[in-house]
Amino acid sequence: MLFELYPKESRRELFSRDDVIDYIKRQIHAGNWVVITGQRMIGKTSVVKVVLNELASEGFRTMYINLQGVNSLKTLLKIMVNEANRSSLFRDIDASVNLNIGPLGITVRKGARPMPTLLEFLLSMRKDTVIALDEVQDLASASPQLLKILGNAHSSNPRIRFILTGSYVGLVRALLEPSPTSPLYGRLPVEVRLRPFTHDQSKAFLMRGFSELGMSFNEYDKVVNLLDGIVGWLTLFGNLHGIRGLSLDDALSKVIEEGSKIMLNELDNFLKGRANKRLYLAILEALKHVNRWRDIKAYASFLIGHEIDDRTLDNALTALIRFNLVEKHSEGIYRIIDPILGNMNFMNLTK
Ligand SMILES: Nc1ncnc2c1ncn2[C@@H]1O[C@H](COP(=O)(O)OP(=O)(O)OP(=O)(O)O)[C@@H](O)[C@H]1O
Ligand SMILES: [Mg+2]
Repeated sequence: MLFELYPKESRRELFSRDDVIDYIKRQIHAGNWVVITGQRMIGKTSVVKVVLNELASEGFRTMYINLQGVNSLKTLLKIMVNEANRSSLFRDIDASVNLNIGPLGITVRKGARPMPTLLEFLLSMRKDTVIALDEVQDLASASPQLLKILGNAHSSNPRIRFILTGSYVGLVRALLEPSPTSPLYGRLPVEVRLRPFTHDQSKAFLMRGFSELGMSFNEYDKVVNLLDGIVGWLTLFGNLHGIRGLSLDDALSKVIEEGSKIMLNELDNFLKGRANKRLYLAILEALKHVNRWRDIKAYASFLIGHEIDDRTLDNALTALIRFNLVEKHSEGIYRIIDPILGNMNFMNLTK
């Protein structure tokens, strides 16, 4: 059912992502690796899971790893080994130095260091294997080593493919914009950016969800005007109203309350470590009222009390776009992607 909250696993449960799924599968078949980006709750995990399930039925070995909370290579290795044992994938592995492989699975030799062991694990796969690493931003602290491992595995073992998802920080940035000294230079992954649904798609999504529940519903415009085409917010709304029975207004308030927490956290992650937080907050505040580059410049300059120079504004907008908080709608026109984020009072956050 469309309004179930877990990430969807099959194409039947997924609304309107056929093109993206087919595209990612073609890339994997062609031997490329793929990075899926997109704002929170846009459906990244669902797309990855559906792709993996379909590739598994086409003969690939697959492994899904959620990196949430995983902050070291040692933990990553442990999770991968457990997963290989659980799914019997260890039977297709041929390793000897740091890993013992017995009839019941893999064990890591005592004293084995995580980096060479992970690499050995990846290089020793003998069957076509797709490994999906979800939420790669959480491994940011270990990203230089992980990048080396992934780059090396990808170029040395043509049987292995990776799909990575996450917001545009740390590892994802290093993957998509490698410096000339990076192990990935010249071997760029394919980036797939998930976009919000259009107004019509969002309405059709709600219509299908409510009709699955046998419920009549006709407040489509009200809901879509508030939540826009972010599938996670629409799903949560449908669940609260259609399945849990909250009234329309209570369900909407609850989605906005939950969504605000998630988006505030996302904004926090974006601002972490940036020196000019007020500049970004002023630009976001400006984007609530104006969309054109020169108007954004004037509005944000007014808010921070001095003129922002062109380059600073360009760089700040680029950073916001990379992080999937803002999109360039057309030449010189920008907007905040998430409708819930777009209703926050940013200037209150500068204190
Ligand atoms: N195409 C779709 N059709 C129906 N439901 C979907 C679709 N995509 C996502 N969902 C639903 O939206 C919610 C968010 O999806 P998902 O967890 O896949 O997104 P995400 O981008 O990985 O989110 P997060 O940023 O939290 O990791 C879930 O409830 C999921 O069931
Ligand atoms: Mg996810």
